[in-house]
Amino acid sequence: MKQGATVYLYELAWILPSIAIPVGMLAALLVTAFGAGIHVPSVAGRIDPTRVTETAPFDQPGVVQTGPVSYEVRMIGQIWAFTPNEIRVPVGSTVTFVATSKDVIHGLFIPGANVNVMLIPGQISRVTARFDRAGEFFMACHEYCGIAHHTMGGKVIVEPRS
Ligand code: CUA
Repeated sequence: MKQGATVYLYELAWILPSIAIPVGMLAALLVTAFGAGIHVPSVAGRIDPTRVTETAPFDQPGVVQTGPVSYEVRMIGQIWAFTPNEIRVPVGSTVTFVATSKDVIHGLFIPGANVNVMLIPGQISRVTARFDRAGEFFMACHEYCGIAHHTMGGKVIVEPRS
């Protein structure tokens, strides 16, 4: 009787955390997914990778204002450059990057902003970030794309409002 109760307590000491830990992780996942707005960048469409420069919106790469404080960057990645490679927006802007690759797989990574996507030939990547701090943000290719991969970069310049 007494031994049975001890075994039961030991079992309980393992069973309770083994339920509580996954429940806690699930709660953390739900909070980050729905509360903090963290999500995997979506595939925003397909494109013929051999006709990128003739296909809208990539026939006119650059920065377009889409609202009072929102901008869209239409970007092409190719060996070994981003077009455009310098983006200027006022502080507080919400910037949506719509990007693709003309040749091999590249990446678009902006440390300090919520931007981390792959640029895959034939696929359009879309990611939105808010720039609440003035300054320069380095933009890097973070997928190895050949001999000059390390030179493939650019910057987002977030300007103070006048
Ligand atoms: Cu492009 Cu590495």
